[in-house]
Order: sequence, then C-alpha cells, then structure tokens
Amino acid sequence: MNRDGFEKLIYHHDKIVKIGRQAPQFPVHLTLSLGNYCNHACRWCTAAASQEKDVRHADADALLEFLERARPRGLAAVGYVGNGEPTAYPDFARVVVGARRLGLEQGMFTNGALLHRHLDAVLECFTYVRFSLDAGTTATHSAMHVVNDQFDRILDNIGRLVAGRRGGSPTVGIQFATHHENISDLPAAARLARELGVDYLNVKPVFNQGGGRDPARIAANEVTPEQLDRAVANIRRDFETRAFQIHYKPFQIHAVQRDENVLPYSRCVAGFFNLSVYEDGKVVACGPHHIEVGTIADSLADIEARVLELSNSIDLSQCPAACRYHALNHIVDTVLVPEHGREYHKNFL
Ligand SMILES: C[S@@+](CC[C@H](N)C(=O)[O-])C[C@H]1O[C@@H](n2cnc3c(N)ncnc32)[C@H](O)[C@@H]1O
Ligand code: SF4
Repeated sequence: MNRDGFEKLIYHHDKIVKIGRQAPQFPVHLTLSLGNYCNHACRWCTAAASQEKDVRHADADALLEFLERARPRGLAAVGYVGNGEPTAYPDFARVVVGARRLGLEQGMFTNGALLHRHLDAVLECFTYVRFSLDAGTTATHSAMHVVNDQFDRILDNIGRLVAGRRGGSPTVGIQFATHHENISDLPAAARLARELGVDYLNVKPVFNQGGGRDPARIAANEVTPEQLDRAVANIRRDFETRAFQIHYKPFQIHAVQRDENVLPYSRCVAGFFNLSVYEDGKVVACGPHHIEVGTIADSLADIEARVLELSNSIDLSQCPAACRYHALNHIVDTVLVPEHGREYHKNFL
C-alpha cells in the first residue's frame, strides 16, 4: 500500500457510508499551522506572503483544548504543515507532548535546521517526519532556501533522527521540490537520502501557482513533466531499493501542465478527512478556496454542519489542478455513484 496515496480509505469505510447518508462528521486528521514564522526563506514558498505579516503564534492552550474536544469525535491525527516552520514555534514541545497524551498520531514537514532542539520529543511522539531538503549540495540548498550553509547541520539532524528510531518509527522522508535551478542536484539528493537511511525521497515540482508565493523571487519553473518523469526514472534505476523508495505522483504533474483536474468526481469530500487550523484559530475546510468553517472556539457540531454544507455546495470548476484531494474525491465518488466506478471492473474481473 502506498503511504502517500488514498488506499488507506479502506480503513475509514465507515466515513464513506456516512458521506453517502449526508451525515455530519469530524475529520480523521487536522493540518495545524503553529505560526507564520520561518527561519528559512525558500524562494518559491507559498507561505511567503503570510510570513511578511507580524509574527503570529498559535495559542497553545486553546489549541490543546480544541484537540481534546475533537478526539472523542473521531480526530485521530494531526500534521504540522503550515505557514511557517513548526519546530520554530516556542510551544512546540508542549503541544506535541499534549497531543501525544490525547492519543493522537502526529507528523510534520520541517526544514530540519532546528530539529536537534526537539529530538527526544519527536522520537517519542511522531509517526512521520518529512524534511523539505530540495538539494543535494550545500550551495544549492543555501541558494534555494536562502540560508547560510545549514545543509550539513540538517543532514546531521536527519541522521540523528534515523539513528534514534526504535522499530522503524517515526517514518522519515526527504522531499525534493524540483525547479530548473535545482534539478541537477536530484541524483546527489537521492544518494544522500539513501545513505542517511531514510525511508523515502518524495519528488515533486515547484508549483508556480498557489498561495502567497512571490513570483519576483524565483523564475517560473521550466521543468517539464517529461523531464521530471525521466529524472525520476533515472534515480529510481540508480538508487531505489526495497528499504528506500522514491515517491512521485505523475498524474498531479500532468494535471498542472494541462491546468485541469484529470480525475472526475461530483462532490468534494476532503473536509470529512482533513481540516486546516491556522495560528489565528481559524478552521478552514478548503485551502485553495480558503473556505472557513469556524474557529477553534466554536462547537464541533457547528463546524461539522458547515463542512457538510460545503461538501454539497462547492464550485468544483474553480478547483486548482494541483489539489491533492482530487484522487480521494474520485475514489469516494466511484464508490458512492456506482456508474462512475464501472470503468474499474470492481467485481474482481
Ligand atoms: C510551507 S512549508 C511549511 C513546513 C516547513 N517549513 C517545511 O518547509 O517543510 C510546507 C511544504 O510546502 C512546500 N512548498 C512551499 N512552496 C512550494 C511551491 N511553490 N511548490 C511546491 N512546494 C512548495 C515546501 O517545500 C514544504 O515541503
Ligand atoms: S517552504 Fe517551509 S522552510 Fe521554506 S520558507 Fe516556506 S515555510 Fe520556511
């Protein structure tokens, strides 16, 4: 089973039944933005505009209280991926230990430069950690992330995390967002990732559209889908093993090139699986359309009702080609609308 894909829906078949019945429900997962501060300044960062505002940190007590209410309602996991760098959040250790006490699984995307501050808490509390590395050399890393030679320290942090694992947990991955200014580093990054003993390298393109990315800070990405397909095939051939996987989603990239979603469906169900909570306490059901469904001070019943309403009313023609939930929506649609699933020969034919 692909960890990054949506085969895991099978574990949540009860939610699909509820969606079919139009029943409100709280999501399995929350994406949490702990603050808009970042110690890096990646030239393509979609959070750049939000980082230009005054530094804002999440209210740790209010957030933990919200998680405590959500847990018995079906919340099972939180992922720290937001407007800034999660490990730079002053209350990081308190929040992750608190979430662990609630029995929540946790994961995060991090630039990795501050991980040594929280190594024990991360080893204790996390199910996955993904490092946004985007380079195979110090020079490229410094140029893309606009930092002063932090590459070796980050590699050291990745190595310490891998060495401290028990029973292979947390899962550790490295991400490479590919742009024509760093694609030549891809083989070096794959070699390093394998040598460091991480579980996978995730390759994706730098997206030109989306969020608060400032186009003046880096040229539009000229890497073509065919070029990326070839580069990934080469590193797979040279570096992939059973223990070290290379993750890549070509359908997402081709959809962006054509600027349209290539997986049809009739209803967005993403909000039943994930909501985003921002550092200002807003709860958002759809990142790209930025549709708020409340705040962490609201009743969960109100939030659930708004998610259901949104699922039935959102204008799918305005959805961006790169939305990661196209695949999830397509699969659920083929289950709930049998004629849409006919092409898959569902009866084991
Ligand atoms: C906004 S960052 C926040 C978490 C953390 N600071 C980090 O970099 O991992 C979340 C992820 O978005 C990715 N990202 C930001 N801008 C992007 C873009 N224009 N195209 C593709 N990925 C992007 C980053 O590489 C990172 O993996
Ligand atoms: S991608 Fe992550 S590390 Fe880079 S500037 Fe944005 S928030 Fe910071």
